[in-house]
Amino acid sequence: MANDQQVADDQELDSLDALVSLCKRRGYIFQSSEIYGGLNGFWDYGPLGVELKNNVFDFWWDAVVRQREDVVGYDASIIMHPKVWEASGHLGNFYDMMVDCTECKRRYRTDHLMRDLGISELPKECPNCGGELSEPREFGLMFETFVGATKDSQSVAYLRPETAQAIFVNFRNVQMSTRMKVPFGIAQRGKAFRNEVTPRNFTFRSREFEQMEMEFFVHESEERQWFDYWREARMQWYLGLGIREERLRFREHDADELAHYARYTTDVEYQFPFGWQELEGICNRGSFDLSMHNKHSGKDQAYFDEARQEKYVPSVVEISAGLDRTVLTVLVDAFAVEQINGEERTVLRLAPHIAPRQVAVFPLSKKLGEQARKLADELQRRFNVLYDEQGSIGKRYRREDEVGTPFCVTFDFNSLDDGRATVRDRDTMEQERVALDALAEYLADKLAPR
Ligand code: GAP
Repeated sequence: MANDQQVADDQELDSLDALVSLCKRRGYIFQSSEIYGGLNGFWDYGPLGVELKNNVFDFWWDAVVRQREDVVGYDASIIMHPKVWEASGHLGNFYDMMVDCTECKRRYRTDHLMRDLGISELPKECPNCGGELSEPREFGLMFETFVGATKDSQSVAYLRPETAQAIFVNFRNVQMSTRMKVPFGIAQRGKAFRNEVTPRNFTFRSREFEQMEMEFFVHESEERQWFDYWREARMQWYLGLGIREERLRFREHDADELAHYARYTTDVEYQFPFGWQELEGICNRGSFDLSMHNKHSGKDQAYFDEARQEKYVPSVVEISAGLDRTVLTVLVDAFAVEQINGEERTVLRLAPHIAPRQVAVFPLSKKLGEQARKLADELQRRFNVLYDEQGSIGKRYRREDEVGTPFCVTFDFNSLDDGRATVRDRDTMEQERVALDALAEYLADKLAPR
């Protein structure tokens, strides 16, 4: 039976403002260095944000590494030998073209400007103020730093713009130490840095972000087969996160937008309030990266395939997702404001298995605090639990709805006699009496990925 009646007018996001405000108010995401005015393109995760981010990452690691025999994990340093970026082509090719308005000083990425205006040639006038636009210029995306005591051209190093290169340069180490046989993959999560021209849309385009990447090494003849396999597997993963199917799609890259290393690429896109945007790239990188490192390091990157009795440099099918972007996506997809009996309810309908707080335990009255606290402590051993005795039950429900807690458990006076508590479901708002000794199993079942 629904506790609150008459759910009407489910309102969703038409901009990110309400979500940004909720994230700050409830401790999901804050602007970095906020007390100093913030730093454009940098964000911090609060107590709930870090749990959500870890849950999304665990779901990825489980699907891509732990549940498979043909993928192993890796965790590389962020700063690598600068020659890595020479060999990978990033030093020569990793830049965006930008233009500035000579009047209002707005800066635009040329590809985004043309896409947003739906035109194929660069305009001469600023769409904001009509002022003259500058000639297009290259804007290098790599952050530089210095390693060691001196600061000169000899000590320049780079913050990695993708995690993938560490996997390529360690391909032989991993393959030989694990005796993995092609086809197999190496996966890692890690920070990446890009000095984006126009960081925007909350965490969507940041200057510091995390990637979840897996490089799958295959024989050249099997590139397409594995590309198709991973394309489908990745879409299923996003559906498993609870994201609405109608808001997800594939988009093939046109030849003129392919990265310098790519043979072909398909993006998984999501329909954000600001339009369809990339969540992940699935890319056939061919043997570009291993061949370039072979050439630049002088170290043989070829692999001897015993089954084929053939020595070759493997091709790579890459899956490359943004962890922050995925977190933003699940938040956007989950956010809703409902009218219930004339009152507003804000709810985050996060899939239960990724919800940062899984269960909230309430005593109906503070007089039941001792028993309810004991129940919360028991559940805490298995779940992420909040104990809350402040305010009316209705207010406590609303607070948990807003942060996406899937289940609230209320210990009331009847619980003392019948050994049961009321479990309230965030989405249906239905309530069920569940025996206290069966509660942990009941919740575990409800919180498991579907
Ligand atoms: N190794 C391939 C690679 O890095 P990419 O398309 O440039 O490919 C992969 O990036 C994913 O990383 C993107 O689909 C996106 O989810 C995430 N990403 C890239 N730039 C980002 C940024 N500035 N802010 C947040 N996430 C970003």
